[in-house]
This record gives sequence, structure tokens and C-alpha cells, in this order.
Amino acid sequence: MNMPNLKEAKKRTKNKVEVKKYSLKNEYKNSLKDKTFYIKTYGCQMNEHDSENMRAILKELGMTEVLNFEDADLIMLNTCSIRENAHNKVFGMLGRIKHLKQTKKDVVVGIAGCMAQEEVVVKEILSKYKWMDFVIGTHNIHNLGEIIVNSFNEKKLKIEAESQEGDIIEGMPVERTSKYKAFVNIMYGCDKFCTYCIVPYTRGKQRSRNKEQIINEVKELVKDGYKEVTLLGQNVNAYGKDLNINYNMANLLEDVAKTGIERIRFMTSHPWDFTDEMIEIIAKYDNIMPSIHLPVQSGSNKILKLMGRRYTKEEYLKLFNKIKEKIKNVSISTDIIVGFPGETESDFNDTLTLVNTCKFDLAYTFIFSKRVGTPAEKMLDETPEEEKEQRLYKLNELVNKYALENNKKLEGKIVKVLVEGKSDKEGFLMGYTETNKLVNLKANEMLIGKIINVKILEAKTWSLNGEYVK
Ligand code: SAH
Ligand code: SF4
Ligand code: F3S
Repeated sequence: MNMPNLKEAKKRTKNKVEVKKYSLKNEYKNSLKDKTFYIKTYGCQMNEHDSENMRAILKELGMTEVLNFEDADLIMLNTCSIRENAHNKVFGMLGRIKHLKQTKKDVVVGIAGCMAQEEVVVKEILSKYKWMDFVIGTHNIHNLGEIIVNSFNEKKLKIEAESQEGDIIEGMPVERTSKYKAFVNIMYGCDKFCTYCIVPYTRGKQRSRNKEQIINEVKELVKDGYKEVTLLGQNVNAYGKDLNINYNMANLLEDVAKTGIERIRFMTSHPWDFTDEMIEIIAKYDNIMPSIHLPVQSGSNKILKLMGRRYTKEEYLKLFNKIKEKIKNVSISTDIIVGFPGETESDFNDTLTLVNTCKFDLAYTFIFSKRVGTPAEKMLDETPEEEKEQRLYKLNELVNKYALENNKKLEGKIVKVLVEGKSDKEGFLMGYTETNKLVNLKANEMLIGKIINVKILEAKTWSLNGEYVK
């Protein structure tokens, strides 16, 4: 049993990060041939990509995926800790699974992901969810095969989620969700320690992947016909800083652009590490998409300071304007938290003013959620929940107004769209523009997987409607 420990999770040392090679014991391969699995993924792209690895490992065991949890021999939830409601969703789902387990005793049930790295969560599981079979942490994914084989052999709750700064595991198998778009990790963990955020504790210290491994992965994707890569990390702009080599995110972006892959995206960008050199490279290469996610979190300098974001609103605006000026037709999206401890009406108004200045293409907005072990957990928070909800509502109205206004500018224009598949909207296909806007379009299914010209006919707040033009 390897329990997560909050004190350990907070530690950062100068210990060298080890790069290890993934392997699965031969005796495990295809040893669960008659078994099925179900994975549900919560949270960010990092988790989605981890699920792609876990799916591939389960397939190495010989298992088959099913899309309905009631049909599965193994049910695994890949969880997220970022806000309270992410937790609640997982515990709600575990309630439904417990119900199923009463009639289907042999089903193996476990959680992976960020909640598995939380000491409080694992303690709760040990006391109230003893019927579960395993907990596997974000640092243990490469051992999933062994844990699952053992879980089928032995009915006992296993915890493999020790807190550690983390290694890098290369060569993990991957079963990608899309045939056209791929996630490529460029770094793991985070050392920014924003005061509200749990990620530095659940994902360990910042560890950049070796550039050769990244570029080779992208080259393989090009060979396999992939059109788009998203370079992933909690703070990709800090790429390379931990390697002590003279090679940074701008260099990496340039080298990835030179592989010839048609579309490159990256996320997430912390404003602190966004350099002029990066802006130049993005502007220079047509295959680096003009779409930047640049979380601001608040428009109040007092709150930004309390959040530990290391920039002022003036510095953010300077960067924002530079990006807008240098990168043609760029779209900029953001994340905003309302109701952070100490946020007054006037601080909130500063956020509204910033939104009025930036007119973001898209903004993800959240009410502050207290996370165990973070510095903000202990900050005095006097704003009533109702007030916070009103602020969120007001902010969303403004954010949506600008999203629609920006989308409206595209009406009648012809834009490039990578067609990904059928839309939820009956009779339509869907894809994204270079600026990362969702388009529902009328076109022949033969065009799925291709980058095509689309004339935008109608703009909505969250999406565009269009038609294929030659
Ligand atoms: N690494 C990314 C953020 C990942 S979390 C970055 O720094 O930009 C995604 C978003 O969730 C954050 O940008 C923040 O807006 C929000 N978030 C994180 N912790 C939160 C908390 N405790 N309460 C509310 N929102 C939170
Ligand atoms: Fe969290 Fe801040 Fe790291 Fe983003 S940069 S993951 S918000 S600590
Ligand atoms: Fe959630 Fe962990 Fe991602 S907390 S947002 S799944 S890094």
C-alpha cells in the first residue's frame, strides 16, 4: 500500500528526474482476454491523454473496451480535483457503481487521476469505500497493468498513489481517441503554486520531457496521417527551464513547426513565462495556430497578488496587446475565478473592466473552490455564496456578449476547418477553425479528416454554422 501524503506532495527538491522506460511483464500480456473495461474521464486534457495511455495498457492485457459501465468487468474513473464539484461528480458516480456491485460482485472498481493523489480522498475511501478494488495515482499509471491483474486475482483494496515529485516514463502505449488530432505531453507537473490550486500537489514537480522524444513523437504522428498536435503541460511556456539546457518553449515550437505537421496548438500558457521570442515564432510559422489560451484569473492587482500569479493586470494587458498586435487574426481565451477570498465588489469590477478591455474570444469562468492543503484554504473568505453566484452570472453575461461579438465578425468569411467527424447536431459535421472556434457544417462525410474551406453563415455564442466551399 502506497498512500498519498500532503506534506510529501508539497516538497520540491533538486533531486534529478529519472527517465524510465515503460514495460509490461510478458506473463500479463493478453492475460485478461475475456474481460471488458469502462473508463470515464473527468478534468483536463492531461487526464484525457492519461486515459489514452491507460486504455492502451488495458488493451495490452487483452481487455476490450465497452461504452456502458454496467457491461464492464472493470470500471475505472480517471478523476479531477480542481474544484469541489469535480469531486462530487466522482463520489456520485461511485454511489451508482456501489449499487451495481451489489448484484455484480465480481466487477473490479477503481479510481485513477488527481483525486487518487489526495490524502483526504484516499482516507475517505479507506473508511467509507472499502468495497472498491484499487486507487492508482498519477505517478503510477505505468503500473496499471500489474494493478489490474492483481485486482482480478485478489479482492482487496489496493492503494498505489504515493506522493512524489515524479519521474518521466517514456514509451507508454497510447490508444488515441482521434485519428486526426493528438495530444503530446511536453512537460508534467507544476511549480507555480498559485495559492488556490491543487495541481502542484497532485501532479508533482515540473518535469520537461526531452526535446528529441517530443519531436520524434510528432514526426511519427505526421507519418500516421495526423493533422494536429496539442502540446500539453500545466504551464507549457516554462518548458525546458528545469532541464538546465539552452533550449526553451520558443525553440521547441519552432522545431515542432519544422516537422511539417499541419496544425500546432499548446496549452496552457501562464502569462509569466510568455516570451517575445515565443510570440515571434508563433507569428512566423503558419502551422502554429493563432489561438492562445492565456488565463488571467482576475482583473484586480490585489487579488492577483493573493493568488500568487506573479503578474499585475497592467503586465497582463501589455502581453495581451503585444500578442494581438504581432500575431495576425489571433484569438485569445482565458480563465477567470470569481469570489476568491478577499474579493470585494470593487475587485470584481476590476475584473469586469479587464474583460471589457480584452473582449476575449472565450472565457472559462469559475467560482473559487476551497482545496485542501492550498494556501487559499486558510484565507478569510467572507463573501456569501449567493453574492459569488451573482458575480459569476454578471461575468458570464459580459463574457458571452464578447464571444458572440467576436464570432459575428466571421459571418460571411471563409475560414479553414479541420473536419473531425459528425456533429451532435443532426445532419452536420463538426470541426475547429485555426482560431479554435467550433464549427458545425454541411459537407460530405468524405471530408472528415481534411482541412477544408468553410464559409461561415451564422455565428452563435459557442459555435459557428457554415458550409463547405471549394
Ligand atoms: N495550468 C493552468 C490551469 C489549470 S486549472 C493555468 O495555470 O492556466 C484550469 C483553471 O481552473 C484555472 O485556470 C483556474 O481558473 C481554475 N481553477 C483552478 N483551481 C481552482 C479553484 N480552487 N477554484 C476555482 N477555480 C479553480
Ligand atoms: Fe495551478 Fe497555477 Fe500551476 Fe496552473 S500554473 S496548474 S493554476 S498552480
Ligand atoms: Fe483536474 Fe488534475 Fe487536470 S486536478 S484539471 S485533472 S491536472
